[in-house]
Amino acid sequence: MSRAHHDFATHLAQTSPSPIGLEINRAEGSWLYTCDGRRYLDLIAGIGVSVLGHGHPAVHAAITSQLQRHLHVMVYGEYVLESQAGLAAYLARILPAGLGRVYFTSSGAEAIEGALKTARKYTGREAFAAFDGAYHGDTMGALALAGNSGFRAPFGQLPGPVLHLPYDDESALEAIDERVAAVVIEPVQAEGGVRVPQKDFIQALRRQCMRSGALLIFDEVLTGLGRTGRLFALEHFDVVPDMVVLAKALGGGLPLGAFCGPDAILGVLSRDPPLGHITTFGGHPLSCAAGRAALETIIAQGLSERAERIGALFRRQLAEALGCQVVEVRGAGLLIGIEFAEASITRQFVEETISRGVIVNWTLNADRVVRLAPPLTIGEDEIDFALTAMKEACAVIGRNLGSGG
Ligand SMILES: Cc1ncc(COP(=O)(O)O)c(C=O)c1O
Repeated sequence: MSRAHHDFATHLAQTSPSPIGLEINRAEGSWLYTCDGRRYLDLIAGIGVSVLGHGHPAVHAAITSQLQRHLHVMVYGEYVLESQAGLAAYLARILPAGLGRVYFTSSGAEAIEGALKTARKYTGREAFAAFDGAYHGDTMGALALAGNSGFRAPFGQLPGPVLHLPYDDESALEAIDERVAAVVIEPVQAEGGVRVPQKDFIQALRRQCMRSGALLIFDEVLTGLGRTGRLFALEHFDVVPDMVVLAKALGGGLPLGAFCGPDAILGVLSRDPPLGHITTFGGHPLSCAAGRAALETIIAQGLSERAERIGALFRRQLAEALGCQVVEVRGAGLLIGIEFAEASITRQFVEETISRGVIVNWTLNADRVVRLAPPLTIGEDEIDFALTAMKEACAVIGRNLGSGG
């Protein structure tokens, strides 16, 4: 065992009894290179972060240039920093009209918390609504929205009340009434098992929020910035929410989150009392510079359109290649779910595929679903490599099942 591996096992707080534990030496493009001389095709892109692959030169150049000017100089929102203000203005240009006020954070969960607090302050209401299968992060407020009660249970009383509604079920939306400050939803659920809702459902949700006065918050932490074949997943539904939450790809590989909305809504954060919602590191200049470079590259290279095209091809090829253990291959763009008949098969598939040099993982709230979120730059030859590994993994599983193993 290497020194780093020993320190990892001994001194890092663990989040599961069985971490993947690959010791990463370097990463480039769609590939991770481990200290034992192996390489792995990264089909999860650091859980949806590395949309340009690893080590993109445009991002590196932006980081180097910002590094030479300055790093942290003041808490968020006090000094005028070109990197921060420039990224906010850029987001305002690409988000739907009217959502052009941006509050930067350091992570997705922190951005969700900010959006929840803003909604309470703006509406004067307390309750929230969220959906079965949802994942919005692990801070107390974000966790209160979680769609899997098993993850909420160990932590006692969480902020609320929260109405937990079935996802993609129009008939349940009437429960959203004048007690609700905000409804938080992933426009495509990721950890819930890669579920793409009906357009009618999202449109009905928009109408119900209008009727009840609840704010509609889209959590686009994973779906934003090209992943689903649109720059924002909201574009699939012809709906404009009241706030959009971003993170993951937003920092180009550095930590960055944001919640974005109209002046009237985000304006409540500046008064009664002033400085009532502040953060030290939110919108770090290095993250904003990297994020701006990443976003410009995504748009200049048409990567969301590419995600739509390559994603459809990949899904079709997966459905053809993987055979009988697979119940369904689904998704939007390059957010892909492979649903297996049983959780035990899903676990075996993940292990067998990783052992063949392709990184995949399952989802938190749907243990029969493997979620793929590769870099949007993934090559067609790399997809072929992945398909071969997955096909072999399925063949091994098929043989084990056949022999009763
Ligand atoms: C949809 C969604 N929302 C929020 C979060 C939380 O983001 P973070 O891990 O940056 O706090 C995640 C993280 O996986 C996510 O997938």
